Amino acid sequence: MLWIISGAAQDCVNCHRAIVDKHAATNHARTLRPLSDTAFGRALPDRPIGEARGGFLLSYMGTTVSAERGRESAAGEIAWVLGAGDQGLTPLVKIGGEWLEHRISYYPRADRFDLTLGHQPGTSKSAKAALGIVQSEATVKSCLGCHGAKPPGLGCESCHVKTAEHFSRPTKLCTECHRKEGPDDALAIRFQPLRLIKSACFTKGRIACANCHPPHANAVRNDAAFYRSKCAACHSTEHANQPADCLPCHMPKSSPAPYLSFTDHWIRKRR
Ligand code: HEC
Ligand code: HEC
Ligand code: HEC
Ligand code: HEC
Ligand code: HEC
Ligand code: HEC
Ligand code: HEC
Repeated sequence: MLWIISGAAQDCVNCHRAIVDKHAATNHARTLRPLSDTAFGRALPDRPIGEARGGFLLSYMGTTVSAERGRESAAGEIAWVLGAGDQGLTPLVKIGGEWLEHRISYYPRADRFDLTLGHQPGTSKSAKAALGIVQSEATVKSCLGCHGAKPPGLGCESCHVKTAEHFSRPTKLCTECHRKEGPDDALAIRFQPLRLIKSACFTKGRIACANCHPPHANAVRNDAAFYRSKCAACHSTEHANQPADCLPCHMPKSSPAPYLSFTDHWIRKRR
């Protein structure tokens, strides 16, 4: 019988070193970090980032971000940056006791600072509004619940639940963060479970995330043979055995918003 006090990775390293090292290199482990440790921090230009003509100017100094226009100004502290850097990085800004989702995100693939998804373009109504949208304590808690309770991101305990004896193997937990519910609009392509469960592979074959995604690793990228072998585990028709890349026809990528790109997990016949 094993007795482990907490769920922090350093408590697992002596006995599961290979997994701890592997996990540390994933986007799961890097999805919540202090500004200085992110591409957002490193890519910041020397000059301020400006809204459209006549709008506010945003300046970054250390972890302080300020918005200014004439005599109007407001400043806050960048507490954390969310996003490992695969798609977009969005800071959470603290002003006094309030939390703001920052108006500006950094998109590494395009090397651009631009509006955070869901924020309105144009000139902000006030200096504070130029810093971002106020979020309730509950919303911020939910952001942090999915992105890791504290930096640097998801730990072992994000997936493994402590049991009386040790730690459990996870069950059904991917959908605690990767959503399986929500409006099925263009943006729903971000919610892989919501799409996957519409597939016959799921309704008739009970396909699961683990069929294609190894635990403790990022998604395998640009590897047609890897995914073909996953399909082949269940499909053996002549068509399904061709030496082709199955993904462009059955799991194509698309961009539901500027700079973001996702894989459609609704596997189906498309003509
Ligand atoms: C004192 C050594 C030790 C420490 C420390 C330790 N483990 Fe384990 N763990 C083991 C052994 C031994 C097994 C059983 C063999 C195996 O599956 O690798 C195991 C198995 C597991 C399993 C599989 C359980 C199952 O039902 O098959 C999980 C999950 C796990 N450990 C998670 C953790 C996590 C998370 C931590 C840190 C918070 C941790 N362990 C710390 C030794 C340890
Ligand atoms: C505690 C919340 C949480 C849980 C549980 C979780 N994920 Fe994630 N996952 C995330 C977040 C947040 C990201 C975005 C990481 C980033 O910032 O790029 C992510 C990203 C990913 C990625 C993309 C990584 C890459 O290649 O860039 C894959 C694949 C993934 N998760 C699979 C899984 C699978 C499979 C499970 C279940 C075993 C799972 N996740 C459980 C929160 C979670
Ligand atoms: C229900 C869990 C959940 C909540 C709540 C949540 N996120 Fe995420 N977030 C994710 C997952 C999962 C991903 C990975 C999406 C993907 O790549 O498929 C992600 C991705 C991101 C990304 C990377 C860019 C992208 O779109 O992939 C950023 C930035 C981000 N979230 C910020 C936030 C902020 C800020 C909040 C709170 C306002 C928040 N998230 C709330 C689960 C969550
Ligand atoms: C994103 C979710 C996720 C995170 C984070 C995570 N694991 Fe796992 N872990 C899994 C899944 C899924 C399995 C496979 C379960 C199965 O095969 O039944 C697994 C299996 C294991 C096992 C069983 C042996 C094996 O290789 O299958 C151990 C031990 C383990 N994890 C330790 C850890 C440790 C230590 C950490 C932190 C460094 C960690 N895990 C972080 C999802 C996660
Ligand atoms: C866990 C098993 C499993 C895996 C893995 C799997 N599928 Fe399936 N898939 C099924 C089952 C079962 C059906 C339903 C077959 C039937 O209706 O007779 C299905 C149906 C389909 C269909 C027909 C869908 C429709 O609308 O009629 C396509 C296309 C398909 N799969 C493609 C793929 C591709 C491509 C992959 C790999 C990326 C894959 N599948 C991986 C089990 C799986
Ligand atoms: C049939 C195989 C398959 C299954 C099952 C699967 N994925 Fe994926 N997943 C992929 C492929 C292929 C990619 C894109 C790889 C690349 O970029 O080359 C991907 C990418 C992702 C990404 C990165 C963002 C994106 O959309 O490109 C996340 C997050 C993810 N998957 C989560 C999940 C979760 C959660 C589940 C379970 C609900 C799941 N996947 C089940 C094949 C699968
Ligand atoms: C050029 C596009 C394309 C590629 C590449 C492709 N498929 Fe298909 N697939 C289709 C179309 C179109 C259908 C529907 C055919 C019909 O209804 O007559 C289909 C049907 C299927 C079906 C449903 C049953 C069947 O055999 O008709 C499965 C399963 C399937 N594909 C799996 C795969 C797998 C696995 C791969 C990779 C080895 C793959 N496909 C590559 C276009 C493609």
